Amino acid sequence: MRIIAFNGSPRKGGNTQLLLEEAVRGAKEQGAEVTVYNLNTLNVRACQNCGGCDDTGRCVIQDDMQAIHAAIRSADRIIVASPIFFFTVSAQTKIMIDRCQAFWSEKYVHKKPVPPGPFGRRGLLILVGGMKRDAKNDGFKCAEAVARAFFRTVNVQEHVTLEYGSVEKKGEIRENPAALNEAYEAGKKLAEI
Ligand SMILES: Cc1cc2nc3c(=O)[nH]c(=O)nc-3n(C[C@H](O)[C@H](O)[C@H](O)COP(=O)(O)O)c2cc1C
Repeated sequence: MRIIAFNGSPRKGGNTQLLLEEAVRGAKEQGAEVTVYNLNTLNVRACQNCGGCDDTGRCVIQDDMQAIHAAIRSADRIIVASPIFFFTVSAQTKIMIDRCQAFWSEKYVHKKPVPPGPFGRRGLLILVGGMKRDAKNDGFKCAEAVARAFFRTVNVQEHVTLEYGSVEKKGEIRENPAALNEAYEAGKKLAEI
């Protein structure tokens, strides 16, 4: 069982990282092989809408996204973890997602979705934001819509979402052990066959 995980937060030791680490710990305990991509440290250029992927379904920009594309193709499970920045996922996360336009072409233009693999493809979305999850809840709703579009484009047919609001300061999520445990359990469950 191969799992790839995207950490979309630039803050080292921040809330996203802490939650993701718990999910990864759970998945590894279940026997999965997990690779984490810290998006902020990678060289990934924003999509140029150059049309380079239109004919082939493959992105022509040569940077770290090429390795991520290969990892997405061979993954059985995908985790996206992001802070809410200005009512959606972080820019680091969004840049990676936009570069998956190549998968969009491949799936919807060339009718060649990423094969489901031996276990079926499932996802986990972890979101953390400083604002209260009030009645409108727009930040989480926008991020959920972006992540859902990503997951379906790379042929992840279903995903579970964990949302944590009112978590502002670095590492503040430690004050919520139930949240960390929930992420651990979700990681474990994600790695189930
Ligand atoms: C540029 C920026 C924009 C933010 N925008 C929002 C927002 O729209 N909604 C929200 O709930 N929190 C927002 N926050 C707060 C972060 O989501 C919050 O601090 C979160 O815990 C950061 O996670 P991290 O520690 O993993 O980086 C913003 C923070 C920054 C730096």
